[in-house]
Amino acid sequence: MDTRIAEIADGIYRLSTFVPEIAPPAGFTFNQFLVLGDEPLLFHTGLRRMFPLVRDAVARILPPERLRWIAFGHYEADECGAMNEWLAVAPQTQVAHGQTACLVSLNDIADRAPRILADGEVIELGGGRRVRYLDTPHVPHGWDAGLMLEEGSGTLLCGDLFTQLGDGPALTEGDVVGPAIAAEELFRYSSLSPGMGATIRRLAGLSPRTLALMHGPSFAGDGATALAALADDYDRRIRAALARGPAPLQPSGAADGHGLQVPSRAEDTI
Ligand SMILES: [Fe+2]
Ligand SMILES: [Fe+2]
Repeated sequence: MDTRIAEIADGIYRLSTFVPEIAPPAGFTFNQFLVLGDEPLLFHTGLRRMFPLVRDAVARILPPERLRWIAFGHYEADECGAMNEWLAVAPQTQVAHGQTACLVSLNDIADRAPRILADGEVIELGGGRRVRYLDTPHVPHGWDAGLMLEEGSGTLLCGDLFTQLGDGPALTEGDVVGPAIAAEELFRYSSLSPGMGATIRRLAGLSPRTLALMHGPSFAGDGATALAALADDYDRRIRAALARGPAPLQPSGAADGHGLQVPSRAEDTI
């Protein structure tokens, strides 16, 4: 297993590890994004057991100890499982996240105190790059969810939004909405909630030129239109779910695992 590197926007590198054993036969990618600058930022750390792979990939671009910021979508293993490994390897690195993530999880879990970001707050990375933090509670899942826009290049580091299966190209101008809808059908990974469409349309209002997907290729093109289409699909799902009413409880063991066929321990595959 290897981690491939591609520059998907000016000074923003996608580190991508494909795991064929997850959701076979298509497989699944885990992507981290390294944003260069005087204060480099890594968006997603990768799984804890993936740390050696991601560290070695970062080292092909810059010395890992130069990392200044760690950020991610929400508190979950693939987003931040290697957070403390990064804090140990890079003494000046600090985790930055929204108030909910910091108060609920990171103040306790992170080995150094995180920086709490207000909704809309900017970190100047230098070299013309600046990231704006955006609260996106429960979108696509996690009370603490939040994303970042790198304003110099118009790149939305959009976490689990647009999750898709397979091992596509690093960067595409093709459709990312259809594959995201297909993955939602399979995984049911999003927390359908009344504010979801409005939150995603707020992101569309930023008119990103690149969408940096955590699970899938990065997208170059009209990010606003793609986000609006995704919001429309979630609105449709929410209306349909409300019309159906509550689902009957399934007897234990009857759940289908939402299409996830994940080995019991990550090191079985990584
Ligand atoms: Fe997630
Ligand atoms: Fe994820």
